[in-house]
Amino acid sequence: MPAIRATAPGKIILFGEHAVVYGRPALAVPVTQVQARAVVMAAPGLATGEVRLEAPDIGLQAALAELPAQHPLVVAIQGVVEELGVKRLPACRIRLTSTIPIASGLGSGAAAAVALIRAVSTFLGRPLPPEKVSALAYEVEKIHHGTPSGIDNTVIAYGQPVYFVRSQPLQRLRVPVPFTLVIGDSGIPSPTAATVADVRQAWQRDPQRYEVLFDAIGAVAQQARQQLEGGQPSELGTLMNENHRLLQELGVSSAELDTLVEAACQAGALGAKLSGGGRGGNMIALVTEQTASAVAQALQAAGARQTLITTVQETAGVDC
Ligand code: PMV
Repeated sequence: MPAIRATAPGKIILFGEHAVVYGRPALAVPVTQVQARAVVMAAPGLATGEVRLEAPDIGLQAALAELPAQHPLVVAIQGVVEELGVKRLPACRIRLTSTIPIASGLGSGAAAAVALIRAVSTFLGRPLPPEKVSALAYEVEKIHHGTPSGIDNTVIAYGQPVYFVRSQPLQRLRVPVPFTLVIGDSGIPSPTAATVADVRQAWQRDPQRYEVLFDAIGAVAQQARQQLEGGQPSELGTLMNENHRLLQELGVSSAELDTLVEAACQAGALGAKLSGGGRGGNMIALVTEQTASAVAQALQAAGARQTLITTVQETAGVDC
């Protein structure tokens, strides 16, 4: 039996992070230059039902049975086994690799889960549809994030731009006019669970103030959708700046992220904001083809450990 391969892209949140946990809309797009890849190979030489897992990026090499039941990769694999109603996996080797930086807002955990779920379900002869892949990856996201909104597993499982509202059916985000972003990695790992928990505490202390901020972020996301779908992505810059200011007020920016946002704008970006959980991880800047490399260079000079230039457009993705 040939090896089964499956991949999943990274993602970036354009607008609405944090407020999306509280039911406001958010916009996210896949980033296809980086990806997670899972390969499953039948291993008749192993004992019946033995599954060997290898994930070199996180230094993991183990038998599935040796790992704790709540290990994210175990939850992903078990999810497929239960969903398909099979007793167990046939003896196999699974290798998971990824070019997505970990804990930096590019959806590394969700992409690993999606790639793994796709590969394992295909290996079992019954590839799961995107809504099932997304639902199983959501269970893995809970381990990473505690109370995730579900935006990461959704945009990654569908592989196309999304307008996302928690617990509502997925809406595709139209991008009739492509646009370019520079993604700057602050190089500071920042677990999303921590910033989400901090925002929750702050919200519990002062719900009125935070509800107002969430509403304002939701309104920005709504306007951004209109601009984007109306074919005016260059108008997004001002909205990005506004979203960043609101995220600062939420307390999830940092001196390093603010420095990167400022450097991008000074180098000619139309707008910039942190993206994802905040405190570290990534920021994004809206650029034109002409300004992209100057902005990327300015970000590196201002301390970005890595930059990525990506064009956002409608992708074939999977129908929703
Ligand atoms: O840090 P990321 O890119 O995985 O994004 C998290 C987005 C939050 O809104 C902060 C949390 C969530 O579950 O939506």
